[in-house]
Amino acid sequence: MPTAVVTGANSGIGHAFAEILIREGYDVTAADLHVNGKLASLQCDKAQLDVTSPDSIASFASSYGDGPIDLLLNIAGIMAPKEKDALYTVSLATLTQTFSVNTFGPLLLTQALLPNLLKSDSPKVGVMSSRVGSIADNSSGGSYAYRASKTAANSVFKNLAVDLRDKGVVVVIMHPGIVKTPMTAMGEGIAEAVWPEEAAEKLWGVVRGKGLEDSGRFWHREGFELPW
Ligand SMILES: NC(=O)c1ccc[n+]([C@@H]2O[C@H](COP(=O)([O-])OP(=O)(O)OC[C@H]3O[C@@H](n4cnc5c(N)ncnc54)[C@H](OP(=O)(O)O)[C@@H]3O)[C@@H](O)[C@H]2O)c1
Repeated sequence: MPTAVVTGANSGIGHAFAEILIREGYDVTAADLHVNGKLASLQCDKAQLDVTSPDSIASFASSYGDGPIDLLLNIAGIMAPKEKDALYTVSLATLTQTFSVNTFGPLLLTQALLPNLLKSDSPKVGVMSSRVGSIADNSSGGSYAYRASKTAANSVFKNLAVDLRDKGVVVVIMHPGIVKTPMTAMGEGIAEAVWPEEAAEKLWGVVRGKGLEDSGRFWHREGFELPW
């Protein structure tokens, strides 16, 4: 049975991804900061994990044990309210917290679980980025911490793809579109917003189809490549 670890599985896209992987026959470990919400409904192993805490990451890795991980999906993320993340309002606290969850956490969790990934015959690591992290695609401005944290996550995971290519690790960088989750106030008033189940199902098609030749590239939910 293939194995998967999914962060952010208590809510939104991470939860939908965990459900899909369980359906697809994966032995899933679903992790999140809080374990008292939607995580409880998942028929799989569950774990409390704060991706901003090195102690929490170490304890998660240690309780996971020595077994292989075929798929690690770093989905957990945060976005500060727009009024706290604008040119005249963004603070060091908002920048630090946003980078800690969206950029540093996925890197440090991947680092901690690397021994498990390298035990897999076909290891894959995904990170949920965002199109707003594309520098080339930026025409709207604002969202300093969130945007830069996703740009940096793109850089980190491209780097992982380079460093881990000769070990056979495939890295997939994802954009889900605008999704109806608590992060977007359930997409209220945004016509193109989709439910997390649709975003995760389409992204699963992307993740499943990628091999080493595609590693370290940035993919839209609909399957096309996004510019850096
Ligand atoms: N929704 C969109 O339109 C959209 C668009 C582009 C990219 N994304 C990205 O997609 C990912 C999933 O977002 P979503 O929309 O599904 O949001 P969501 O429903 O708010 O889910 C995010 C999850 O991450 C968890 N989390 C926050 N801080 C954490 C930490 N320190 N350690 C572990 N888990 C933590 C949250 O836990 P708590 O709620 O308990 O704090 C929550 O369960 C994020 O990376 C987001 O940036 C979303």
